[in-house]
Amino acid sequence: MSDAMVLDVQSVSVRYPGNPPVVAVQEVSLQVAAGETVALVGESGSGKSSLARAAVGIEKLASGTVRFRDGEVTPMRVRRRPKALTGIQMVFQDPSTSLNPRRRIGDQIADGIATARARGAEGSRVEEWLEKVGLPTASVSKYPHQFSGGQKQRIAIARALAARPQLLVADEPISALDASTQTSVAALMRDLVSEAGAGMLFISHDLAVVQRIADRTFVMFGGRVLESGPTVDIWADPQHPYTQALLAAIPEPDGMGRIPAAPSAAERAIWADVPAVAR
Ligand SMILES: Nc1ncnc2c1ncn2[C@@H]1O[C@H](COP(=O)(O)OP(=O)(O)OP(=O)(O)O)[C@@H](O)[C@H]1O
Ligand SMILES: [Mg+2]
Repeated sequence: MSDAMVLDVQSVSVRYPGNPPVVAVQEVSLQVAAGETVALVGESGSGKSSLARAAVGIEKLASGTVRFRDGEVTPMRVRRRPKALTGIQMVFQDPSTSLNPRRRIGDQIADGIATARARGAEGSRVEEWLEKVGLPTASVSKYPHQFSGGQKQRIAIARALAARPQLLVADEPISALDASTQTSVAALMRDLVSEAGAGMLFISHDLAVVQRIADRTFVMFGGRVLESGPTVDIWADPQHPYTQALLAAIPEPDGMGRIPAAPSAAERAIWADVPAVAR
């Protein structure tokens, strides 16, 4: 793994028990370089969250390896919590699962700052982080239940960024936000992460935002990566028929591209059959 890599996922598979078992992720390899934002896109159930959880060590690997910049390797074992991992932060889709309901939000953001300082990174003030994510500084003494879903997500993002992670894994971090701020918050995350020389793995259904902020994009379908490469190349000239369908999806009134809701079985069979394209 080169020094410039912050995340190196090699041939990772994730399986859930059942009859038959679900192969949620099938031999996926991806790297995130320092300063880079890599997006994961694909329909619901394609394995994005499973891969993200495997990447931060909270999902067991059926096979494969995950390495971080500091050389840590997770060969097929489960770790307890991402916060136990130095330099890795995760933002989950549902902010109520990531914030402690019994602690003031100022204290929770201060935890992030303390994590940064413990690693020798620069730690800004709580109020600065609140301002960065567009919340009033008077919010410090309030509790999570006093905020809307979108505000809670901003708090979770502020806390994750305050920890100055080397790697930020963000699973649908902006879908709880109102449409008018989704792009700006995503761009803020990208800018703060890349300025710090860190990397971000960014999962989103919002293809307009992905196009704006991601350096490279990985397109998942049925647990596999069907196409990957620089975002500009994929948008300019998608090679795989699934990516073509994804990008041709009629935009919703809010301007976002969406994966077609109900592709035919024939289409799905073709998508699964056509070899993956990497560039
Ligand atoms: N804990 C679990 N136990 C069993 N099956 C699971 C579990 N989590 C996910 N799956 C299955 O694994 C597959 C991939 O799910 P995953 O949540 O990773 O997809 P996703 O791409 O994140 O979808 P979405 O866009 O809806 O969040 C799906 O078939 C899902 O039903
Ligand atoms: Mg998901």
